[in-house]
Parts: sequence; C-alpha cells; structure tokens
Amino acid sequence: MSVPAEPLPEPRAGEVWLSRDTIAARVEELGAQISRDYQGQELVLVTVLKGAVFFLADLSRAISIPHRLEFMAISAYRAASRESTGRIRLLKDLDAPVRDQHLLIVEDIVDTGLTLNALLKTLRFRGPAAVDICTLLDRPYRRLVDIPVRYTGFTASDDFVVGYGFDHRQRFRGLRDIHILE
Ligand code: IMP
Repeated sequence: MSVPAEPLPEPRAGEVWLSRDTIAARVEELGAQISRDYQGQELVLVTVLKGAVFFLADLSRAISIPHRLEFMAISAYRAASRESTGRIRLLKDLDAPVRDQHLLIVEDIVDTGLTLNALLKTLRFRGPAAVDICTLLDRPYRRLVDIPVRYTGFTASDDFVVGYGFDHRQRFRGLRDIHILE
C-alpha cells in the first residue's frame, strides 16, 4: 500500500539578509547621489507596482530636489514564478506625458532584465529626455539582455528574497527587513 505524500511545508521568511538599518542607510546614500545628479532637471520617478513601492516611498523622501511620481502596472508573462519571458502587458499606464523629462525607473530587483527591457522600450517611445534605472537589488550575473542600470543598492546572490516589498505569491511584502526565503 502506498504511503500518502507529506504536504510540502509552507515557505517561510528565514534569516535576515539585509536589515532595515542597512537598507535605510543605503537608500539615504542613493537619494543624496540622485539629488546631486539631477539638480536643475525635471525628474520623474517611474515605479512599477507593486514590489518597488516600499523602496520608492523611502527613496522619494531621501531625494531633496523636486520630483514627480508616476506608477505603472504590468503583468509579465512568466513560465514559472521566477522565469521572465520578456513579454509584458500594460495594466496601468502613466498618468501624464513625460516628453523631454528625465525618467528614473525605480525597481525592486533586476534579474534577467527581460521585464525591464520591455518597459524601457515602452517608455522611450514617449520621447523623454532620458530614461535611467535605479534598482534596490541587482543580480548582474543573471542578465540575459543588456540593461543600463545607473544606481544599484546592493548586489544580490541567487537566493530568493522576501520582505521590504519582495513577495512570494503576494506574501511577506510588509516585513521590514529583507529575508532569505526558506
Ligand atoms: P526579470 O529581471 O525580468 O527577470 O524579473 C525581475 C522580477 O522578478 C522582479 O521585479 C521581481 O518581481 C521578481 N523577482 C526576481 N527575484 C526575486 C526574489 O528574489 N524575490 C522576489 N521577487 C523576485
């Protein structure tokens, strides 16, 4: 007689990889750098819902020059939870035109870069003065397309992370630190 398989244990947020204090200190540095670099320019922070909104909220407050916030929502077609295909569907577009403005895309993590590459094409089509990228985490060794990342918070290992906006099936976003998923 066959023994019924044990159900897989629920994934849980394991050890803290980046503490809230480490994140906060780095976000302050990024904000100061961005404020210097974009002095005198019309800066628009473009954020893709939902993961990056936690980073955006802190980054916006760390930027001392005037700037606007714009949000987009996309659905990325994925073969598996982490596998990008590079095809996106726009669920929510920008609210205002961005022609001749300096766009800074605020991302949670750049992995293969496929999702962001599709987004870059969409945004460049709108005639901005420039489009740059600021990402909290980067996995450059996973890149499948070349993406011009201008600001990086931290380089990440291949471990799946949760917290500070990062989710696993919509869970764990509200954790204050970034944990390794177990
Ligand atoms: P890619 O750069 O197109 O491969 O996709 C990056 C997206 O995958 C991110 O915006 C996240 O939504 C998701 N992602 C990749 N790695 C992680 C992780 O470690 N934790 C949570 N989400 C992740």
